[in-house]
Amino acid sequence: MDLLLVEKTLIGLFLAIVIATVVSKLRGKKFKLPPGPIPVPIFGNWLQVGDDLNHRNLTDYAKKFGDILLLRMGQRNLVVVSSPDLAKEVLHTQGVEFGSRTRNVVFDIFTGKGQDMVFTVYGEHWRKMRRIMTVPFFTNKVVQQYRHGWEAEAAAVVEDVKKNPESATNGIVLRRRLQLMMYNNMYRIMFDKRFESEDDPLFVKLRALNGERSRLAQSFEYNYGDFIPILRPFLKGYLKICKEVKDKRLQLFKDYFVDERKKLASTKPMDNDGLKCAIDHILEAQQKGEINEDNVLYIVENINVAAIETTLWSIEWGIAELVNHPKIQKKLRAEIDTVLGVGVPITEPDTHKLPYLQAVIKETLRLRMAIPLLVPHMNLHDAKLGSYDIPAESKILVNAWWLANNPSHWKKPEEFRPERFLEEESKVEANGNDFRYLPFGVGRRSCPGIILALPILGITLGRLVQNFEMLPPPGQSKLDTTEKGGQFSLHILKHSTIVLKPRSV
Ligand code: HEM
Repeated sequence: MDLLLVEKTLIGLFLAIVIATVVSKLRGKKFKLPPGPIPVPIFGNWLQVGDDLNHRNLTDYAKKFGDILLLRMGQRNLVVVSSPDLAKEVLHTQGVEFGSRTRNVVFDIFTGKGQDMVFTVYGEHWRKMRRIMTVPFFTNKVVQQYRHGWEAEAAAVVEDVKKNPESATNGIVLRRRLQLMMYNNMYRIMFDKRFESEDDPLFVKLRALNGERSRLAQSFEYNYGDFIPILRPFLKGYLKICKEVKDKRLQLFKDYFVDERKKLASTKPMDNDGLKCAIDHILEAQQKGEINEDNVLYIVENINVAAIETTLWSIEWGIAELVNHPKIQKKLRAEIDTVLGVGVPITEPDTHKLPYLQAVIKETLRLRMAIPLLVPHMNLHDAKLGSYDIPAESKILVNAWWLANNPSHWKKPEEFRPERFLEEESKVEANGNDFRYLPFGVGRRSCPGIILALPILGITLGRLVQNFEMLPPPGQSKLDTTEKGGQFSLHILKHSTIVLKPRSV
């Protein structure tokens, strides 16, 4: 560790000249850069700021330097945006200028340098990929085609929990079972496939590789090599592991899912649109020559990371808040009982008739935003934001969590109070109609998965609350809601044990 530090410092010295040249070049251009801590040569602000650029630390910087600030992380410029007006500028008014994505050294590996959709720059490739993905994934038709499947998956969770005697006594780590449910919800859409149990060997392999991918990508431990290129050789081992995980994962998607589906399609030609699953549409686009085989695999990769864990984290946060706020849980149960009748299992169309359920979901996404900094945006060219110059290829982080938790804009934002969305904030939707509340972003690069995520959240939380009283485990009055942030993700640190007492109806 010490050796690494000495090496970092020594090599860093050589970089002084490079940085000095860059800085003088920028000055030569007479850039008016956003405020921020004073950088030192080579390292910029990295040594002051550290690695953990989570939404709370970035909020502290915003309080100090303002709604737009610049952090120089070695060679990388990082612009943090913390007001609704500036968020509107980045995501809407100048949505094209700021509509690209940055990738660091690790995301370059996992996305094949942007051959995917989520991490590619704004342009032809992105437009094509987003268009190709829309019909198979992001329409109301998809919701109507698969909602029965999601309802069945939620019912299976309820059954399994009821079968396990531990659930009502010492409690269980419900997340594990919900993870299987989320994989099934998405794999039904993608491949018309589901996994029978948490021990299914293919599911075990898939879950492990996806888990590794998320951990490696969201970790802060590779920052030094990303920020300071000359230190990159020290990242060789880390990047090699990333590459191995990436290769294994794409191979698994290909061998066990994509090729399986191709085989099935060749033996049983599908003449009816209704029988098509998402990959059939994507393969059709490949056959037409619109995209190549790698693009197909990267689409599968994107859905695996963008859809499953994000929704699962939100479900997990929702449950934790309901356990820690028993009155809210009771009120939600009462709403469902009154509107649907006791014992009538909630379905997707029902979720629209339950305003308190919607408010609970919105409040969960406000306080516990799964992607609190959105997925990083980037400007390909020099740009202006507020009254400042933003150098080309800056990483733009919109602190969406702070927009939704700033006491200047929200009444007691630290409280979990769904009522706010029925009272003073009753016009605020999750789709970005208010720039203070952007859990799915807004504009060109906003989350297309919102159309699936909201009903899945409603069905899952609804079914759990209908069937169980959810409580902390014996001897504990509250669940631990310590957060764990990553490069741009936020989830609960400890997957809690929860007691689920079946309701006697
Ligand atoms: C509660 C669950 C979810 C949350 C909170 C969430 C949130 C987000 C956010 C904040 C972004 C970035 C917006 C921006 O950069 O401006 C995003 C992008 C994206 N999300 Fe989601 N998401 C969720 C579920 C899903 C699901 C279920 C899918 C797919 C089925 C999905 C697919 C995507 C894709 C493909 C992008 C990239 C869009 C682009 O770059 O053009 N998400 N999501």
